[in-house]
Amino acid sequence: MYLLDCMINKSIEHRIKQLRDDLNYHNHLYYVMDQPIISDHEFDKLMNTLLNLEKQYPEFFDSSSPTHRVGGSLLESFESVKHLYPMLSLSNTYSKIELAEFDQRAKKTLSVLELEYVCELKYDGVAISLIYENGVLSRAVTRGDGVYGDNVTENIKTIKTIPLKLFGNYPSRVEFRGEVYISKKEFTKINDYRKKKQLNIKKDYNIQSQSNTNIEPAKLKKQYLAEMRKFEQYSNPRNFASGSLKLLDSSRVAKRNLDCVIYSVIDNNSDIHSHHQLLLNARNWGFKISEHIEIQNSINGMMDFINNIESNRNSLDFEIDGVVVKVNSLSDQKLLSHTSKSPRWAISYKFKSEQVKTHLKNITYQVGRTGAITPVAELESIYLSGSLIQRASLHNSDFIQKLDLKIGDVVIVEKGGDVIPKVVAVDLENRNDHCKDIVFITNCPSCGHQLKRVQNEANYYCMNSNKCLPQRIARVEHFISREALNINTLGVKTIEMLFINEIIQNVADLFLLDINSFNGLKGFGEKSQSIKKAQNIINGIKESVKQPFEKVLYSLGIRYVGKTVSKKLAEYFGSIEKMRQSTLDELLQVDEIGDKIANSIVDYFNDHNNILLIEDLQSHGLQMNIIEKIMQSNKLQGLVFVVSGTFQISREEIKKIIDLNGGKNTSSLSKNTSYLIAGENMGQKKKDLALILDIPIVSEMDFQKMIE
Ligand code: IVH
Repeated sequence: MYLLDCMINKSIEHRIKQLRDDLNYHNHLYYVMDQPIISDHEFDKLMNTLLNLEKQYPEFFDSSSPTHRVGGSLLESFESVKHLYPMLSLSNTYSKIELAEFDQRAKKTLSVLELEYVCELKYDGVAISLIYENGVLSRAVTRGDGVYGDNVTENIKTIKTIPLKLFGNYPSRVEFRGEVYISKKEFTKINDYRKKKQLNIKKDYNIQSQSNTNIEPAKLKKQYLAEMRKFEQYSNPRNFASGSLKLLDSSRVAKRNLDCVIYSVIDNNSDIHSHHQLLLNARNWGFKISEHIEIQNSINGMMDFINNIESNRNSLDFEIDGVVVKVNSLSDQKLLSHTSKSPRWAISYKFKSEQVKTHLKNITYQVGRTGAITPVAELESIYLSGSLIQRASLHNSDFIQKLDLKIGDVVIVEKGGDVIPKVVAVDLENRNDHCKDIVFITNCPSCGHQLKRVQNEANYYCMNSNKCLPQRIARVEHFISREALNINTLGVKTIEMLFINEIIQNVADLFLLDINSFNGLKGFGEKSQSIKKAQNIINGIKESVKQPFEKVLYSLGIRYVGKTVSKKLAEYFGSIEKMRQSTLDELLQVDEIGDKIANSIVDYFNDHNNILLIEDLQSHGLQMNIIEKIMQSNKLQGLVFVVSGTFQISREEIKKIIDLNGGKNTSSLSKNTSYLIAGENMGQKKKDLALILDIPIVSEMDFQKMIE
């Protein structure tokens, strides 16, 4: 009997496996190759059979089963994970001359007269890193800040052009990077559906408001507006794609028909020599790669590709914002290496931003976190690169003067870096006598305090920082932001409500919130869902006390003290107390800190309110000093390392990992050295000495494996 059971089980397991393979294959033929060989009906039948079998036999669960493509996971938040290699960005150019300079620089560094480049499209979506272990998608992470990103694996599994399992002869561990996007066709379909829904809601409302219902008109209107909001149009395909990856319910992502194209493969152990071949491999393993990839070896060839793409841009069924040119040879890429921000072997040629003309209706003013006043152009709404534009930044009063701007003018608007629209010029031919001069405000639009212009700065400031509401709200927003304490359970709307209802006065009050604090706030009713939401926020706030001192320091929002400066200060002083007691001279000793930053820090600590705030935060458990190191393991106990050359992660980081895993760092090779970790561009002398002393030379990858 037992034997029979085993046999039946084996054959069911085999059937399930076969169905999964078949479905993966047909999925690939349909979505990637666009060449289905079975009908949709047959595909659905296979999927249903598999779904039923998986339900009946949960013991054969497999996280990479095609049934996961329909989503279903409900997360509370995304785990933040570190990229194996930082996700860099690309340097940009808008001209042929700069492209030629890029080519010259690369050839000079490599001492060659000719170079082969791969020309690709620059997809305008959202970057993703995909890691496959033994052919199975194991982790999908958004770009985030380039070093840390969000683990969005469950959402990514719903994208049909991303294989859950690779085909053919793939490496045991490989990373792919690409762009998640939505096709123009799908995007229009979704917005058209929403438009139709809104029309129906409007019709219903008109009928209801004219008939004699028992509902109060004000209530009816409120309901109507809430309904309309639910079906607002999405502003543009890129935001739609990035918003989709941030959804916590993967079944909602599954319905959005996102797409993905791969533009980079990191396979350190292969003997492939070119980027182009890696892309072809990715295609063979089941990915979609762009149909518009060309190898060129001259500036004119590259410009032909660029001009051709730019003139046919509108016929593509997805948004692009330029072309990327990459050195094809992988060994040349290694030699060219990268700066802290971008590789020296690639450049993106961006297309000129689209411009439109519209009327300037009015000017309003925003108050920033530091009290800086930003004038904002209120425009006659108009479509620009697929987004509806109503406002544009005007930076400061000098900018307005330089443009010679008047209210009522026709202005030329463009998208800066394709994100925030900006006014670039005034169409003077359209100016008439009705256009009115702009008189820059003299008092804060929020608290009425008199504005002050800071010496050598173009901005006016509201100095009433402790009382001015938008500044206080913005300080909390900064405090909880990703780079600061990363309290991602709390949103901007909730912060505003907490302030308006006087539940919090400053960042420290966040730590006093309990479930009752949210009672009666919009969106926080008595229902269990609302209680859960409030509890989630409180948990997020509690979690933040684990953040290291450098992040706490950054979160305080001291003017000019950004992320990097906070890190340097934290490392130098070790505690807020030491920093507070330091003189201007001492502050100036810190690397990269000049007069402006040092003076701002002194000013900050001279304000008694700030001292009280710090004490308050400390009493809630926030880290006000560097915590002694917490060991990760003792895997490297007794081993002595020398780290040399440049790496994907910084050398300091490698040394820190050695330290945290019990190893010892030394600067020069000796017979006591256990390993030489060799990066790129390491001196030949060091290598030779290691060989003489018989010291094993290991790569960054080998080293990572030692501590895995
Ligand atoms: S290569 C080291 N190739 O552009 C840089 N990026 O600033 C590797 N992008 O957000 C990027 N199309 O997601 C590369 N064909 C392409 C691309 C591309 C779009 C995006 C990428 C990143 C940004 C780079």
